[in-house]
Amino acid sequence: DDDPRIHGIKSKIRVVPNFPKPEIMFQDITTLLLDPKAFKDTIDLFVERYKGKNISVVAGIEARGFIFGPPIALAIGAKFVPLRKPKKLPEAWELKSLLHSSICSKMGLELGLLTLKNELEQNSQGDVIREEYILEYGRDCLEMHVGAVKPGERALVVDDLIATGGTLCAAMNLLERAGAEVAECACVIELPDLKGRARLNGKPLYVLVESH
Ligand code: PRP
Repeated sequence: DDDPRIHGIKSKIRVVPNFPKPEIMFQDITTLLLDPKAFKDTIDLFVERYKGKNISVVAGIEARGFIFGPPIALAIGAKFVPLRKPKKLPEAWELKSLLHSSICSKMGLELGLLTLKNELEQNSQGDVIREEYILEYGRDCLEMHVGAVKPGERALVVDDLIATGGTLCAAMNLLERAGAEVAECACVIELPDLKGRARLNGKPLYVLVESH
């Protein structure tokens, strides 16, 4: 891209060789965040691209998608949905404990079952779905509250970086399992040598900066 803001953004990303493991060139965006102009330019470029595009969900990937996703969501009038690492999201109450509390409260069986049904319906928003994936260095898993997204909603997936593409692929699977349509994925940085784009099943990916 020939937008003059891109050069400024790129110059603020610190590249740290051999972190967190040998032969990994870590792309450190904390230095970008220290520069209010470069950080704002980053958000503005995404907002300019997605404003008015009928996107109702911005899904951010833990951890650094939580930095870039929310300001984009606010600016385009979308909700923000965090895609979290395992065991961070509270799940709906278990059937067992609900049954137990219904019986213990000495309600008639019929009333108890009706309460149980209502409680389950109300708590279905808290149901968690998960996707496992292989990383550049290790294995991981992403989780999402299914009720956070309604079938048919248009989603944008945001992260700081695409390397092998495994993380974005898992994120898209979660949204699609919840019935959403992924309009595009957006990252600040792409490592094109790792060919992560090829794992996105043809879904469009927009990046600001490439790093080799
Ligand atoms: C990094 C980065 C992406 C992911 C990209 O996260 O922020 O989320 O790796 O890799 P991929 O394209 O090969 O899947 P990291 O695993 O370091 O997790 P963290 O943000 O929780 O530190």
